[in-house]
Amino acid sequence: MNRKIIIANWKMSVNRADTTRLTRAAGVALGKCGGQADVILASPYVYLTHVSAILPPGITLAAQDVAVPHHPKGAQTGDVSPEMLRDIGCAAVIIGHSERRAGHGEVNDTIRAKVAAARASGLTVILCVGETADEHAAGRGRHVVSDQIHAALFDQPNMGPDSVMVAYEPIWAISGGGGQAATPEDVASMHQFLANYIETTLAPFQGMRLLYGGSVRPDNASVILSLPHVDGVLVGGASLDADALSEIIRAGCAASRP
Ligand code: PGA
Repeated sequence: MNRKIIIANWKMSVNRADTTRLTRAAGVALGKCGGQADVILASPYVYLTHVSAILPPGITLAAQDVAVPHHPKGAQTGDVSPEMLRDIGCAAVIIGHSERRAGHGEVNDTIRAKVAAARASGLTVILCVGETADEHAAGRGRHVVSDQIHAALFDQPNMGPDSVMVAYEPIWAISGGGGQAATPEDVASMHQFLANYIETTLAPFQGMRLLYGGSVRPDNASVILSLPHVDGVLVGGASLDADALSEIIRAGCAASRP
């Protein structure tokens, strides 16, 4: 079965009550469509334990970032290690989101180290990549994105297509930055390119799932999910609305093929 993946990235936009409401809504929506899609909820650190305790069946919990531990545990004030995430029921983690690259100085080397650390603890990696508006306008999108993927994954030991997925999130399309979703043609063309790139250059990752993120909403989710080489969507703004999140989960179930 080709199951579509729906990831809700709540960023820093929720309080505890919101996480309860949205987690329950996601569970109901997924239950109603027979659990036909893979749903991942990426909560802020402080609510992970809470969401873990109320996580409906079939839904995976993810963190939005992780630190690289210098030792299994120890003196890293403010950091959260992959082991800690595992300990409280997290199975996945977003790494390399453009908001962390831009706002926290995360460069490709930082992201590669985080990917390795997350995998060493058995977390599934959701690797975010994407070009800026200027890079897009200059026709450099493919170059930038393939470079980001290569830097994070090439020659990483003990990793394969089941332990990592890539979310293509063009920065100019992310709603928080005022963007508008990429056109289906843009998404299809980048995903086709990435599928070929992985086959030729990152062969151990062949078959790795490719997601799209950037202004995904109920009114465009079905079209995006039906595109070739689009295995799922990463949803920010719309995942904060229980009805919108439920509708996108339904679209994911409908687009999953037996
Ligand atoms: P958006 O965010 O859906 O609000 O555009 C996506 C993301 O940044 O992960």
